[in-house]
Amino acid sequence: MTQSKLASLMQRGTELLGSETAIMCGAMSWVSERNLVSAISNAGGFGVIACGAMTPDLLDTEIAETKKRTTKPFGVNLITMHPDLMELIAVCGQHSVSHIVLAGGLPPKGSLEAIKATGAKVICFAPALSLAKKFIKSGVDGIVIEGMEAGGHIGPVATSVLAQEILPEIADQIPVFVAGGIGRGEAIASYLEMGASGVQLGSRFVCAHESIAHPNFKKAFIRGNARDAVISVQVDPRLPVIPVRALKNKGTEEFTRKQLEVAKLLDAGEIEMGEAQLQIEHFWAGALRKAVIDGDVENGSVMAGQSVGMVKAEESVADIMKSLIEQAEAALAR
Ligand SMILES: Cc1cc2nc3c(=O)[nH]c(=O)nc-3n(C[C@H](O)[C@H](O)[C@H](O)COP(=O)(O)O)c2cc1C
Repeated sequence: MTQSKLASLMQRGTELLGSETAIMCGAMSWVSERNLVSAISNAGGFGVIACGAMTPDLLDTEIAETKKRTTKPFGVNLITMHPDLMELIAVCGQHSVSHIVLAGGLPPKGSLEAIKATGAKVICFAPALSLAKKFIKSGVDGIVIEGMEAGGHIGPVATSVLAQEILPEIADQIPVFVAGGIGRGEAIASYLEMGASGVQLGSRFVCAHESIAHPNFKKAFIRGNARDAVISVQVDPRLPVIPVRALKNKGTEEFTRKQLEVAKLLDAGEIEMGEAQLQIEHFWAGALRKAVIDGDVENGSVMAGQSVGMVKAEESVADIMKSLIEQAEAALAR
């Protein structure tokens, strides 16, 4: 009976995703590649490849390799400001990717139409109610609302507040997935009861056996507490950097230094604002790779959500998924 309650609350989500449960593993640059993505989808969830700064060729290979490992649906997360966005969409189209998740701001003109023309469903991040309504009008198929508890680039509002502001207004019109700070099934159950059709988790899956994250990265997660996952500080009012949540280390301090350095270049008129912001973004892309792949968790960026405190051990994706579902079912039964 409880099984069916969870399934029925997730029904619109599973119908949209084509998966058994409406638990998405949010794209995590460098972490969400063929192995983790296929494991998530094979375990009944919905894996999403993080395209990040990949070239169209690299994405092509990643999708092909993921398809070798799963016959279940999975998505591809594309960053809207990627300079080759349209080519990346075309690569997804060639592979008949079923779902594209657009992250990182307003989709550029023509991109939604281009995705639709490939036959893929499109899911967008809505950081505010007004934008969510706009997305519904423009025909997107699903919406993710992600609060500031999340790991990686974040918005300013907490998940609990976004959920209260957005779910009652639009959850009857479109499947909404709640992300940020979810580490246990009880939280999944509560967002479903508020009208969400599913959830998206990131940090909870980083230490899966199937995740290729470096053992040092996983150790940092297992050791980390919620309070260690801090937001990057903006040092110059002219340099509006998108805040990033990561475990505090030398790298977070280095970021402050990098901003000062870029601000000086701006002062000296040596670079334009666009170039300044690009340098900041490149800093993060490089720093995340350093930590995830090379295992340098001191100088690299250990992006992590506050839910990192609920990551206690390395487990298989199937076991993580099983715990989440059992906890959600138990909560719904109470
Ligand atoms: C290491 C790391 C890298 C991430 N990279 C991306 C990314 O490339 N694109 C994106 O849309 N979200 C990214 N995210 C956000 C996740 O997809 C997800 O929404 C978030 O982790 C959810 O919050 P949680 O970690 O509290 O579960 C990243 C998160 C982490 C922890």
